[in-house]
Amino acid sequence: MLDLVIKNAKVFTPSGYFEGDIGVKEGKIVKIGDIQEQSDKTLNVQGKYVVPGLIDGHTHMEFPFMGEVTADDFYYGTSAAVGGGVTTIVDFVTPSKGQDLLSAYQKWRETADPKVISDYGLHMIIREVNPTIMEQIPEVINRGVMSFKLYMAYKGELMVTDGELFKLVREISSHGGVVGIHAENGEVINELVQEYIMEGKVDPIYHYYSRPDEVEIEAANRVASIASLVKGVTMYQVHTSTGEAVDVMSSYRSKGMNYFNETTPHYLILTLEALKKPDGFKYIMSPPLRSDDQRTKLWQKLSAGDIATVGSDHCVYSVSQKKRHKEEVPSFHEIPNGVPGTETILPLLFYFGVKKGKISMERFVEVTSTNPAKLFGLYPRKGAVVPGADADFAVIDPERKVKISPDVLHSNIDYTIYDGIEVEGWNVKTVRRGEVVMEEGQITAKNGSGVYVPGKSLK
Ligand code: URP
Ligand code: ZN
Ligand code: ZN
Repeated sequence: MLDLVIKNAKVFTPSGYFEGDIGVKEGKIVKIGDIQEQSDKTLNVQGKYVVPGLIDGHTHMEFPFMGEVTADDFYYGTSAAVGGGVTTIVDFVTPSKGQDLLSAYQKWRETADPKVISDYGLHMIIREVNPTIMEQIPEVINRGVMSFKLYMAYKGELMVTDGELFKLVREISSHGGVVGIHAENGEVINELVQEYIMEGKVDPIYHYYSRPDEVEIEAANRVASIASLVKGVTMYQVHTSTGEAVDVMSSYRSKGMNYFNETTPHYLILTLEALKKPDGFKYIMSPPLRSDDQRTKLWQKLSAGDIATVGSDHCVYSVSQKKRHKEEVPSFHEIPNGVPGTETILPLLFYFGVKKGKISMERFVEVTSTNPAKLFGLYPRKGAVVPGADADFAVIDPERKVKISPDVLHSNIDYTIYDGIEVEGWNVKTVRRGEVVMEEGQITAKNGSGVYVPGKSLK
């Protein structure tokens, strides 16, 4: 007797699609094909597309940053995730200054475990180097946190020096970890920010002018060069916003190295023009939104296979937080960086990517699920539709027309940066380990029913 049969599914994987049934027992896929066996529950998904549950490899829930803590805690944030067919998030443990890595990991687990609706994995941010931190790296990896994030920007807050970067890349790689990089030149940004402030140029658009394309491209070149000194390294540039930075990683890959990129939906959908709107402050994230030309390049590279993943960088601040609790919009450099996104990866990439003919469904599955699962040590438990894998699925109605607004989303804020955008194709059901956790916008799972999924190291 099965627990669940998903009937008449049109299932997409990176290697094509098949039509049939999927049998689930104890949260795992146990059978694929024409299933006649009895089951407790049957979902007939005729006419819908079934994809492996999305893995959003880039979220910041309850993230303390720039004087605020993000408005989506693990309950709201993972509700938004499952709303958008994301069955696993990979969030960033963020140690406070001076805190060791293992106590920060413990805090993240204690905070997330009672609240999560989706499953979750963890990355570790390292913001400073000291003997305790260096010593703890192998134990952090043992606990399933096999991917890290190092910042080349946010001087005085999260940024590490080139020397620290080199030491960390070497240590993390030697234990089979993956090195995630926020590639922007923090020193140059700092100079430009100070200059604009002195000149009284403080509108949101100056966030863009103080972080031009070149600061990302330079940092991408520098980190690749530094990391190429480390044999066997796996590098991963997060939230890549320029085609040229993608090219840097591709050129190292063509030399046989493991260099990958992530981009985010906001760079694929929006442009810097959003920063000029009266509510431009809502669109401040780093790297900033770019030109239409960069947006076109990113789509081309995504379609060509040069970008490995699309993660959201879900980092949500309320309007009040964005305005630092004042009436007036503050200077661009005081606005906390980050935007919502986990719930809209699926509809935006499906509509603007698949439906508009820019990417195939196979590529959609690869960048939203299979590749992040592989990079973060979760594959084949996650990111695959094979017997033995977790029964995680998003069920897409390919014809459903929806106008995006906060009303159709689950974040703990009352705006979305995609307000008014009309899409065709919407996630109507989310199945997490065989349980329907979202149906037609209603979250049906209990707080804390998601589980921590440890990532396996590359060694
Ligand atoms: O603006 C952003 N991206 N905020 C979150 C922190 C980070 O750099 O990912
Ligand atoms: Zn970042
Ligand atoms: Zn981020």
